[in-house]
Amino acid sequence: MQEKIIILDFGSQTTQLIARRLRELDTFCEILPYNKFPVGDPDVIGVILAGSPFSVYDPEAFKVDLNQFVGRMPVLGICYGAQFISHTLGGRVEPADSREYGRANLTTIDTQCPLFRGFEPNSQVWMSHGDTITALPEGFSVVASTDKVRYAAYEAKGQNIFGVQFHPEVFHSLQGTQLLRNFVVDICGGHQTWSPANFIDTTVQELKEQIGQDRVILGLSGGVDSSVAAVLLNRAIGQQLTCIFVDHGMLRKNEFHDVMKDYEGLGLNVIGVDASQKFFADLEGVTDPEKKRKIIGRDFVEVFDAEARKITDARWLAQGTIYPDRIESLNITGKVIKSHHNVGGLPKEMNLQLCEPLKWLFKDEVRRVGRQLGMPEHLIERHPFPGPGLAVRILGAITPEKVHTLQEADDIYIRALREWGLYNQVWQAGAILLSEVRSVGVMGDERTYENPVALRAVTSTDAMTADWAHLPYDFLARVSNDIINKVRGVNRVCYDISSKPPSTIEWE
Ligand code: XMP
Repeated sequence: MQEKIIILDFGSQTTQLIARRLRELDTFCEILPYNKFPVGDPDVIGVILAGSPFSVYDPEAFKVDLNQFVGRMPVLGICYGAQFISHTLGGRVEPADSREYGRANLTTIDTQCPLFRGFEPNSQVWMSHGDTITALPEGFSVVASTDKVRYAAYEAKGQNIFGVQFHPEVFHSLQGTQLLRNFVVDICGGHQTWSPANFIDTTVQELKEQIGQDRVILGLSGGVDSSVAAVLLNRAIGQQLTCIFVDHGMLRKNEFHDVMKDYEGLGLNVIGVDASQKFFADLEGVTDPEKKRKIIGRDFVEVFDAEARKITDARWLAQGTIYPDRIESLNITGKVIKSHHNVGGLPKEMNLQLCEPLKWLFKDEVRRVGRQLGMPEHLIERHPFPGPGLAVRILGAITPEKVHTLQEADDIYIRALREWGLYNQVWQAGAILLSEVRSVGVMGDERTYENPVALRAVTSTDAMTADWAHLPYDFLARVSNDIINKVRGVNRVCYDISSKPPSTIEWE
């Protein structure tokens, strides 16, 4: 049994954060659309109704049938969730005089209420709501208030229902994690058993049962997700797993060779395919970013497919898909916030079933699992790298010479980040070759007319938004100097100071 908390998603941006906090409490949880509560699942020990951009009075507001869980398990409503419960069970919700937004302090707290056990007087919380509860349903009592919000938190003792109008999941609610711990552990009786070691044991067992004696193919990218998925599968089914690592010729300097060595060291059954000539030939003269991406995607599938077909008895295709790749947060338009990059497009007649052993994990959890599996630190801490590789970091047509130039510049930059202890402080970094731009310089007594290189480094938590990293000037000066002195064809270095949005992390 894998006990779990269900978080019902009503479209708020902070829903994912609730899941993060619960995982930090070593508690397994799933975010599900508000109307997909798994009635009858014996593993569910509690439910959280999360926030929403809607007011309970909006005609389009998302509604859930509370009878599915009220009285059967503990329930916690957060913000809209709290208002929805109160409104549905006979309380009153009205537009607040002024929008209640930002920091607030709980001026009265009933610490006898199990949700607030251990709370300090005046504990700071974060409010963000336009409506407010003005009367509670019968049998409900107020357990915390702020100056402005009388019913900041409530409890319905006999029914095991709790509600808070603030957001315990956000950083500015200083005891928010304590509140969530109180709910999960004390109220729902959770055992906090979700850990990398536990995850590995359960997953290895499940994979053995799921796959049996079948053969599995997995596409490796050199990145942390596919590598951890491979090592996990290798532990479960050993040589039944065949990994395929395609070199499209636009990886980082020495990467194909180094990563192959790492994989072999990990005991993986891996086939390395050098397909660079095909990719370069098909990309010749192509300058449009989307065309480049399409060609690379198509060639990749072709090469992967040709290799995969050699493994005639394969039944499964494994991928390193992780949780944020899959979460389709229900925003107002129902749009997918982040689409998921994967091998995709393999011919249907191959009839492969999909195996995604990391599909419940966040990135940092993948890293913890990798460490627990004994993988080398440099593989685990590796920055994300785009599938099309340096092709999206060379503006203009791609040639092997340009790739070589960029590899050299990028290598100097990444090495320096490591030497200066900055590599792990940024989410991702890389160099970009502006191969269609030339500027004048002077080297010795010679005039030069060469390309600039841009350096990019960003901080981020999920790549959906990112800020440019404020790297030290001394570091940038040193890297600029090294690149201009050592890399032929580059006479200028710039630093990209754009955030995402409105820019993106990659230049193409
Ligand atoms: P952008 O440029 O959209 O990138 O801000 C967000 C994150 O996604 C990575 N990226 C890709 N990863 N295949 C991948 O596997 C791709 O085609 C691709 N394009 C962008 C990018 O490096 C960043 O981490």
